[in-house]
Amino acid sequence: MHSLTRALATLVLLGAAYSASTLDSCPGYTATNVQTLGPTLTADLVLAGPACNVYGPDIERLLLQVTYETASRIHLKITDPSAVRYEVPESVFPRPTANASTTSSAAQIAFNYTASPFSFSILRTSTNEVLFSSVSYPLVYEPQFLHLATALPTDANIYGLGESTENFRLPTENLTRTLWSRDAYGVPNGTNLYGNHPVYVEHRTTGTHGVFLLSSNGMDIKINTSDTGTHLEYDVIGGVLDFYFLAGSETDPTEVIRQYAEVVGTPAEVPYWAFGLHQCRFGYNNFVEVADVITNYSLADIPLETMWTDIDYMWNRRIFTLDPDYFPLTRMRQIIEYLHSHDQHYVLMTDPAVAYAPGQGYGTYDRGTVDDVWLKAASGSFFLGLVWPGVTVFPDWFNPLVQEFWTNEFQMFYNPETGLDIDGYASTTLTHNVQFCDVPCNDPFQQAADQDLPPPRTTIPPDPNAPIFVNSSSAENSFTLALHKRQLDSNENVLNPPYAIHNAAGALSNLTSYSNAVHANGLIEYDTHNLFGTMMSTTTHNAMLARRPGLRTLVVTRSTFAGAGARVQKWLGDNFSDWAHYRNSIAGILNMAGVFHIPVVGADICGYAEDTTETLCARWAMLGAFYPFMRNHNDDTSISQEFYRWPTVAQAARNALNMRYRLLDYIYTALHQASIDGTPILNALWYKYPQDTNTFAIDLQFLFGPSILVSPVTVENATSVDIYLPDDIFYDFATFAPVRGAGAYVELADVNLTSIPVYIRGGAVLPLRANGTMTTTALRQQNFEFVVAPGLDDTATGALYVDDGVSLVQPATTEVQMAYVNGTLTVSGTFGYPTGVNVSSVVLLNAVQAPQIVKVNGQAVGSASYDESSSVVTVPLGFPFTQGFTVEFS
Ligand SMILES: *[C@@H]1O[C@H](CO)[C@@H](O)[C@H](O)[C@H]1NC(C)=O
Ligand SMILES: *[C@@H]1O[C@H](CO)[C@@H](O)[C@H](O)[C@H]1NC(C)=O
Ligand SMILES: *[C@@H]1O[C@H](CO)[C@@H](O)[C@H](O)[C@H]1NC(C)=O
Ligand SMILES: *[C@@H]1O[C@H](CO)[C@@H](O)[C@H](O)[C@H]1NC(C)=O
Ligand SMILES: *[C@@H]1O[C@H](CO)[C@@H](O)[C@H](O)[C@H]1NC(C)=O
Ligand SMILES: *[C@@H]1O[C@H](CO)[C@@H](O)[C@H](O)[C@H]1NC(C)=O
Ligand SMILES: *[C@@H]1O[C@H](CO)[C@@H](O)[C@H](O)[C@H]1NC(C)=O
Ligand SMILES: *[C@@H]1O[C@H](CO)[C@@H](O)[C@H](O)[C@H]1NC(C)=O
Ligand SMILES: *[C@@H]1O[C@H](CO)[C@@H](O)[C@H](O)[C@H]1NC(C)=O
Repeated sequence: MHSLTRALATLVLLGAAYSASTLDSCPGYTATNVQTLGPTLTADLVLAGPACNVYGPDIERLLLQVTYETASRIHLKITDPSAVRYEVPESVFPRPTANASTTSSAAQIAFNYTASPFSFSILRTSTNEVLFSSVSYPLVYEPQFLHLATALPTDANIYGLGESTENFRLPTENLTRTLWSRDAYGVPNGTNLYGNHPVYVEHRTTGTHGVFLLSSNGMDIKINTSDTGTHLEYDVIGGVLDFYFLAGSETDPTEVIRQYAEVVGTPAEVPYWAFGLHQCRFGYNNFVEVADVITNYSLADIPLETMWTDIDYMWNRRIFTLDPDYFPLTRMRQIIEYLHSHDQHYVLMTDPAVAYAPGQGYGTYDRGTVDDVWLKAASGSFFLGLVWPGVTVFPDWFNPLVQEFWTNEFQMFYNPETGLDIDGYASTTLTHNVQFCDVPCNDPFQQAADQDLPPPRTTIPPDPNAPIFVNSSSAENSFTLALHKRQLDSNENVLNPPYAIHNAAGALSNLTSYSNAVHANGLIEYDTHNLFGTMMSTTTHNAMLARRPGLRTLVVTRSTFAGAGARVQKWLGDNFSDWAHYRNSIAGILNMAGVFHIPVVGADICGYAEDTTETLCARWAMLGAFYPFMRNHNDDTSISQEFYRWPTVAQAARNALNMRYRLLDYIYTALHQASIDGTPILNALWYKYPQDTNTFAIDLQFLFGPSILVSPVTVENATSVDIYLPDDIFYDFATFAPVRGAGAYVELADVNLTSIPVYIRGGAVLPLRANGTMTTTALRQQNFEFVVAPGLDDTATGALYVDDGVSLVQPATTEVQMAYVNGTLTVSGTFGYPTGVNVSSVVLLNAVQAPQIVKVNGQAVGSASYDESSSVVTVPLGFPFTQGFTVEFS
């Protein structure tokens, strides 16, 4: 018998026993026994009146602990000292280190409280401005319901709280943001999606601060406005209240983003090649089709850097297998060798779910079973779900043997000598533990048959010798469980908790593992569901590192938890090929790269689901050239949408890729900076213009890196776009002509289907590669051109970081600062990494007249040219980029 006669009946029970009261009747708590020791304050919180028991019994006595961890960060935690409540494990989310010399008196924010009823506020010390205040919202603390709220300014500027498909600036009315990882076809507005990032940033003209709730439990975060003002509330169904308050800064919005990186970790660097163009689709039927796409990109002169294959390559959708008829090993190895010999790369996608296949000789299943690494049902037998291969088990990422198991599967299947020598890995289509079984999933075998899983092939296999590139042990399924760390309290209902979060999939367990499924360490999915994708990706990252020790990894996932970016990269999920998704992809990447520290992010270019159109795909190819992660990807039922399919799209892609590649070292430098201190690699306009209230809601324009303003056409069939230019100076990237912004919208007419408006923000010195190329390897052999785009104060700065592009630990780096002051460009720094290229030229923008004298390293040169129509001075150089230099214009 199979393991599926679940404890369902015994656990679906006590719901709604506490629904009589409302939150208004909750008494809150009284703070007693308040003690301060150094930077830490503790207090007992005692229930202040008759229990309200809204979604369970109110807990009588709580422990409050508030610590000034750094001058800019306060950690506030409220726990139940009488019980072991779930907290996000340190192994998944290492806690930030506190600075032991922090004192409350020197901190930028302060904790203040009222004892009875207990409420607290967080103030900015320089101004006494209240940033967070729970006054008038009673704390509710029950086994399966935690509730805390803060007042917000009316019409507050709130960003973050993802993952969602929403405007970047969140609505302040009727917003419910639910965090519970979900496979969300079409990434619908207003519902819970793949990622879980319980952090928000609030911006005011007086400063920007942040609030992070460290919790992986299911939750609703609500923002609403009523007679009593605007407020934000947390409704969490487990765990503890564990807040980090970040002071941010009064002047620089990106400061709070850096402070958040101190909590969740700075993002990982990726290989240089990861910034090249990626092509994927679900539905490449066989190896010939994969090879043809590679050939066709090359014939179309579009620089394809990395080819991908979705789960089509598998035999019966079993991970770590190849279909011998459609994707035979020898032919797949031939494709990978071809790619590598052309300085291109290969990435495979996979799923976490492993076909449940006792006695069928499926090595992955057999080895995992011997190691006993599968997630368990509440009964102790394997948790069985339903995914592409039919009935499946799931790796338990908490199992102490799972890393070794997963690494070994990688070593075998991705063995360069005998298997597939992949360069990156997408983990995966279904990274959170999604499954297709409707609850109650009492008979997944029947549902597998009903849903025709694994789906049969619908095409005939190719000729195994088809020419390509011509133009160029089954164990018992019953186990004893390790001791539960989290005892299932019989009063708790983890399948249908009394407070139902607004999970768009319905019940908590619908289309995912049951929330009572158990990990090897005793933790249950109820608490850890939101960590599954991140843990799989981390395990995969480690397996990739074991294959190629010392080399950076590219592991792209959809399902992320706070901190995931320290190891992995991200795509925004199964969007539609429509204009709404094209537009809201910008808010999506701003959230991931600008707030959540998952900077290497992109949406599926031209759209994943449904059929794209030529015009949408052309516009999207150009917008996508400014996603940090640039990948064209679509569904198996959609029309083909590789960029070469339409002449207009091909030209649009070539144009935009040329810009992207010239800027590649610039964005690579930005990622390096992010990896050091969390400075965001994408910026909303208000990050740079924090006093300009017009910018606060803008999310159809953004800054790629610190200084490249991207303003795509956003309406179908339009050939014009209204763009906002702050009161500042900008330069057209195509012509370098200056454009004076007036803090107003301007209409750009005649933006044809092969161009995208891109401006340099004044005050930047850009290190451009002189030419775009067909691969990033060739790009690295191109000379540098330094473009000086002075700001209104006639100064400019920039940075350039160059390394070998692949190593985790760099033997030698080149780190250069560029500064333009008083008519002199000074390029200086360290030149440890030999770039092997020259400085081809220095270009000065906005020169009102031809300079009379140009001196390079103090020596007058006669070769400078001046273009009056664009006000550009070009100084041809040509010396090796091995040391600093100056160029003086007078
Ligand atoms: C720790 O805090 C002290 C006092 O505010 C400060 O001087 C010091 O630079 C901080 N150390 C670190 C590592 O941030
Ligand atoms: C701190 O809270 C107390 C008690 O509610 C209040 O009297 C005081 O004004 C507050 N301090 C600040 C700086 O807001
Ligand atoms: C609030 O949002 C819900 C869910 O999106 C919607 O059904 C409802 O109509 C909205 N209410 C108001 C007052 O806008
Ligand atoms: C589970 O999801 C399916 C498919 O979306 C839906 O039809 C069903 O109503 C859901 N069931 C529950 C219990 O939420
Ligand atoms: C999602 O909401 C935004 C903001 O309200 C709206 O502009 C967009 O069209 C919506 N997208 C979809 C796919 O409905
Ligand atoms: C855009 O143009 C196409 C082709 O003329 C037309 O079919 C479509 O309806 C237009 N879309 C809009 C939104 O006007
Ligand atoms: C599109 O516009 C760009 C920039 O104005 C121009 O260089 C290009 O020639 C135009 N392309 C076509 C096909 O008109
Ligand atoms: C750009 O590439 C072309 C063709 O390869 C070459 O002739 C030219 O010198 C390159 N330009 C620079 C500035 O390196
Ligand atoms: C720029 O020139 C001004 C006026 O000549 C001088 O005061 C200033 O020190 C110079 N700045 C730098 C950085 O050289």
